Amino acid sequence: MNINVDLKAKQPASNGPTEETVIAVTHYTDFLFSFRITRPSGFKFRSGEFVMMGLQVNGKPLLRAYSIASPNWDDELEFFSIKVPDGPLTSRLQKINPGDKVLLGRKPVGTLVHDALKPGENLYLFSTGTGFAPFASIIRDPETYEKFNKVIVTHTCREAIELDYSKQVVGSVIEHEYLGELANGKLYYFDSVTREQYFRNGRITSFIENGELFQMLGLNGLNPQTDRAMICGSNQMIADTKTLLAAAGLTEGSNAAPAEFVVEKAFVG
Ligand code: A2P
Repeated sequence: MNINVDLKAKQPASNGPTEETVIAVTHYTDFLFSFRITRPSGFKFRSGEFVMMGLQVNGKPLLRAYSIASPNWDDELEFFSIKVPDGPLTSRLQKINPGDKVLLGRKPVGTLVHDALKPGENLYLFSTGTGFAPFASIIRDPETYEKFNKVIVTHTCREAIELDYSKQVVGSVIEHEYLGELANGKLYYFDSVTREQYFRNGRITSFIENGELFQMLGLNGLNPQTDRAMICGSNQMIADTKTLLAAAGLTEGSNAAPAEFVVEKAFVG
C-alpha cells in the first residue's frame, strides 16, 4: 500500500495556480470581453488587487497579471480583458465558454487599494481602456462609500462601444439594493471618447486641465487636503495624469507608505 505517495501525486503544488471553472462570458467588442469564474474557498483579496490568471497551454501554465474586477464580497471572480489576435494568452482566452477551466494564481497583490491612500473626502478613479477593471471592483465595495463622500470614476476610450462594460457596472451599482443606497449621491461617472463623435470628446488629462471634470462636481480643482486618486491605464496616460496630480500637490503612495494617489499599469497580453 502506498497511499501517501498517491495522495501526494494528486495535490497541486501548494504555491501553484488552482484550476477554476468559467461561469459566464460577455463579449463587448471584437477586442474586449469580461468573464466570471469560480472563486476558491479561502481565496482572499482586497478590492482593486490583481492576480495571475490564465490557461494551460501545451501542457504548461500560461499566466498574466489580471486585475480582479469583482469586489471582495462576491462569491465569484470577474475579469475584464482585451483580446489581442496574436497575443499568446488572450488569443486563446477570448474563446473560453462556461464550463471551461482556467488557472488562477493564489496570491492577489496590488497598490490600487484603500490601504495605500490616506483618508480623504473625494476619491478620483482615473482609467483608460481595460484600466477600468480594478475600479469595477472598488466601486462595488461598500467600504469605498464609507470612506469617501464623492467617488468619481472616469473612463476614457477611443470608441464609445468600449465604454459598455463600465456603463454596465456603474448601472449595476446604482440599481443594486444595498450598494445603490450607499452610492446614491456619491458615485459620479465621467465617460469620454477620443476617436469618434460622442457627447463628451477628449482625454481625461484635458478635462483636468480645463476644469470640466471639477465643474460637474461643483469643485474648484484638485486639493491635496481632500482629494485622493487611483490611476490605471497605459504608461503614457499614467505619466501625464501623475504630472497633473503632482502639480496640484498630491504625492504618490504605496501599501507601505499611504499618500494621496496610487498608480498601476493596465495589463495587456
Ligand atoms: P487618444 O485616442 O487621444 O490616444 P490606448 O488604447 O492607446 O491605451 O488609449 C485608450 C484611451 O486613452 C484613448 O482614448 C486615448 O486617447 C487615451 N490616452 C492615450 N494616451 C493618453 C495620455 N497620455 N493621457 C490621457 N489619455 C490618453
